[in-house]
Amino acid sequence: MNSGKDIFILGIESSCDETAAAVVKNGREVLSNVISSQIDVHTKFGGVVPEIASRKHIENIDWVIDKALADAEMDFNRLDAIAVTYGPGLVGALLVGLSEAKALAYAINKPLVGVNHIEGHICANYIADRNFEPPYVALVVSGGHSHLLYVEDYGKYRILGRTRDDAAGEAYDKVARAIGMGYPGGPKIDAAAKLGNPHAIEFPRVFLDDGSLDFSFSGLKSAVLNYLNKEKMLNREVNANDVAASFQKAVVEVLSQKTIAAARLMGVSKVAMAGGVSANSALRAEMEKLCGENGFSLNVPPPVYCTDNAAMIGSAGYYEFILGARGGLDLNANPNLKLGER
Ligand code: KG4
Ligand code: ZN
Repeated sequence: MNSGKDIFILGIESSCDETAAAVVKNGREVLSNVISSQIDVHTKFGGVVPEIASRKHIENIDWVIDKALADAEMDFNRLDAIAVTYGPGLVGALLVGLSEAKALAYAINKPLVGVNHIEGHICANYIADRNFEPPYVALVVSGGHSHLLYVEDYGKYRILGRTRDDAAGEAYDKVARAIGMGYPGGPKIDAAAKLGNPHAIEFPRVFLDDGSLDFSFSGLKSAVLNYLNKEKMLNREVNANDVAASFQKAVVEVLSQKTIAAARLMGVSKVAMAGGVSANSALRAEMEKLCGENGFSLNVPPPVYCTDNAAMIGSAGYYEFILGARGGLDLNANPNLKLGER
């Protein structure tokens, strides 16, 4: 898409519990990718504490950006723009990255580009495979979002389905907490499920009304909690690995089957995955299998680009930048920002 001069974008991400900065060339080539995770701090509380997240972002944002520039052997003058996540996410956390980006853009007199965090997750696919292009169907599953999207072109999205209650990652985190595995639950359940029997407990698969591409995970989460309570009342020992494997099987079946249905409906040849839950080994394996059987190619970023990072923001920022998007110094954080909304 870029025929002339190379474009270098500094991406900044602070929407949840990762402080991250990256330098990305032409939307596809990652020159540096620095992530400072706060997981250790929040683990003690069993989940992300927003006020602590904001304070940690303030402590870390400067050195994270300095390191991203140093790793890329880049100085401010050579940057073409600064791209920053301005929503959705935790408002206090978002404000740290956004304020930093605005101050930098003003100080070095470079354009500012506001990026939607979900769009960032989707663009991780352009980093993973430099030849990957729209149109395609994308399954975006993270701690806060579960979406099925038709990506018609760069920056052009149609929502085909979304969660009506809990996001897939949220369900993972809540179930992990209930079986004593701690935060973040996704990677822990992923590992435990490998040791368990996915057929041990028959948890519900919620497909909703016929043809719906929406998701609902709160019923599944309740079914797991009910099962745990019942076993406790009956004084029976719970096999946490079996619960993890059975829960995961139910989630993976619904996510993968709905994604295939969406791809068929839209008549695309390509399917992509994005967001923290797409790092899940069982989901990746099942999607690989179903896409193969149904003649779709599958694109999935490596796990480091599935969970929160700033390289994906640098990539999304590039496509927004070349489409002419610019943020003013009055750009505000929007914790409920919707895809396609400005
Ligand atoms: O995309 P992300 O890093 O942050 C948000 O934008 O929310 O996603 C975080 C979510 C958490 O709920 C975490 O438990 C889940 O992604 N996750 C996983 C795995 N790795 C992270 N879920 C299932 N399996 C994994 N391997
Ligand atoms: Zn995310």
